[in-house]
Amino acid sequence: MQTIDDPSAIQRRCESLRRDGKTIGLVPTMGAFHEGHVSLMRWARADNDILVVSVFVNPIQFGRGEDFDSYPRDLDGDLAQAEQAGVDLVFAPSAEAIYPKGFQTYVDVTEVTKGLCGASRPGHFRGVTTVVAKLFNLIGPHRAYFGQKDYQQSVVVRRLVADLNMALDIVLLPTVREADGLAMSSRNIRLTPPQRRAASVLYASLSRAETRIRDGERNAATIFEDVRAMIETEPLARIDYVAVCDPETLQPLDCIEGPALVALAVRFGETRLIDNFLITAS
Ligand code: PAJ
Repeated sequence: MQTIDDPSAIQRRCESLRRDGKTIGLVPTMGAFHEGHVSLMRWARADNDILVVSVFVNPIQFGRGEDFDSYPRDLDGDLAQAEQAGVDLVFAPSAEAIYPKGFQTYVDVTEVTKGLCGASRPGHFRGVTTVVAKLFNLIGPHRAYFGQKDYQQSVVVRRLVADLNMALDIVLLPTVREADGLAMSSRNIRLTPPQRRAASVLYASLSRAETRIRDGERNAATIFEDVRAMIETEPLARIDYVAVCDPETLQPLDCIEGPALVALAVRFGETRLIDNFLITAS
């Protein structure tokens, strides 16, 4: 495994691998790896000749007052896990290398970024799509792997790829969870023990929504209210949003007739957690 921090060096390397006929899989990350990241690497390892993982805490996707400075960083630990997962190349650039003096070009997906996390984190997805476009240009992957935990991000990235005619496949993989159902997240380590226990209400409320939809409930407002009420039984939880929406357009649903995305963002102290279920009314 090789670690490269220079954008031109990774670009030259990947160009030469492509010329040699190798397929390249990319797992973009912000590091502080957990089993969710590693599962993406395993899938990507199996699908491609070359596995590239990027580790970059992208400053422009954090808003003012968000947790850029305190975001967990552990490059040595990440490199050890990447090696174990069979990664060939780790791209770990500095912020100055990605956004050199004079940088002024941003990529903006305008519609599917409006609701959910886009509403509570203005500018977040512009930061995500800008860095993801740069990573795709530098590495030229045949496939890039994303987790369902950040479902809206995957919809936004698919839109980016379709709208800018980028020649790669976006692969969406299931959310990896702790034993009590909490979605793994680099931010979970910042929860205090009582907050960590309280956070299991997220999975419990999504599971209840799934059961109610499978049992025939078709009214999105009823599902919304049920999830909201269940989370509010937990005194340490502060809801940012709960939404029942169309998984493609991310528009709110009235009636659940086909696939539905039940998504939420909830704060426990300073830590904001997100999760979602894709549920199909059968
Ligand atoms: P990060 O939060 O590090 O996540 C990297 C990838 O891991 C994302 O595709 C995310 O959806 C996936 N992931 C996170 N937790 C997961 C879990 N519990 N199960 C499965 N997959 C999980 O998402 C980002 O970084 C950034 O926004 C990035 C795309 C790298 C752009 O900066």
